[in-house]
Amino acid sequence: MAIPDVSGQSLTELFSLEGQVAVVTGGAAGIGRAIADRLAEAGADLVIGDIGDTTDVVASISERHPGRRILGTPLDVSEAASIVACADVAVSQFGRLDIWVNNAGVYPSVPLLDMTDDDWDRVLNVNLRGTFIGARESARRMVAAGHGGVIINLASTAGYQAGGPGVAHYVSSKHAVRGLTKSLAVELGPSSIRVLAIAPTLIETPGIEAGREQFRQSGLGDILDTYAQRLPLGRTGVPDDIARVAVFCASDLALFMTGSTLLVDAGDVAL
Ligand SMILES: NC(=O)c1ccc[n+]([C@@H]2O[C@H](COP(=O)([O-])OP(=O)(O)OC[C@H]3O[C@@H](n4cnc5c(N)ncnc54)[C@H](O)[C@@H]3O)[C@@H](O)[C@H]2O)c1
Repeated sequence: MAIPDVSGQSLTELFSLEGQVAVVTGGAAGIGRAIADRLAEAGADLVIGDIGDTTDVVASISERHPGRRILGTPLDVSEAASIVACADVAVSQFGRLDIWVNNAGVYPSVPLLDMTDDDWDRVLNVNLRGTFIGARESARRMVAAGHGGVIINLASTAGYQAGGPGVAHYVSSKHAVRGLTKSLAVELGPSSIRVLAIAPTLIETPGIEAGREQFRQSGLGDILDTYAQRLPLGRTGVPDDIARVAVFCASDLALFMTGSTLLVDAGDVAL
């Protein structure tokens, strides 16, 4: 099934996600929350999965985008059964699944010599295995329905560079997410399922705020602030800087793109 030629459609038509159903993992806070909000604005109905409480995000996005159907569901992406259940919620409640955003991720900092096997496994399980299983479960449902779809994975500039000490597990997971994205794109392309990754630089989120404190406590200094000061575009990111690109990836504007990782980095990796 080849993707269509959409040259005749208007930009408004191409941008619209009306009638589509999206799942955002880790959508209760930070980047995932901003992505969920913009996908709803573009017209998608949403399932927001999170290990934390989704009551507030569901209420807030529902109020901002009346008419959208928005559900929250408990989700732990380190558990395969939990991901399966989340995908089932989308299909059973909304009848289809078009867009899956593998956003949930963790980035604790631990100096290499202190890093335990469990530290390593936790980060790889959430960031990489969770992304693999999310992609597999969403693709299974998209292939069964026969209408194609889009999978968006959150990588990082840490998928291109080491960033700094204390994040060997995180850097490894995000390099792997870029590779996984390419591999999935090749396998799923014939089913008209596009797979893209987004690689943000430093974005101010609740997770980063907690990370700042952890860097200080683990004796690694205020690396994040130093990092921010060198960005060519002059500021750190806000979650919506990433959400706008996620909507582009999900939309038919990006219909001829798959397998790429889009750097959204204020020039960080170019340095
Ligand atoms: N913030 C940044 O600077 C930055 C930069 C590059 C990449 N990223 C990536 O973007 C994604 C989101 O980062 P963020 O900064 O918004 O994080 P955050 O910590 O601010 O928010 C993450 C959300 O995911 C949820 N979550 C955590 N573990 C989960 C699990 N096992 N299952 C389901 N939900 C879970 C949390 O409850 C939270 O709602 C991550 O994949 C991260 O690696 C972030």
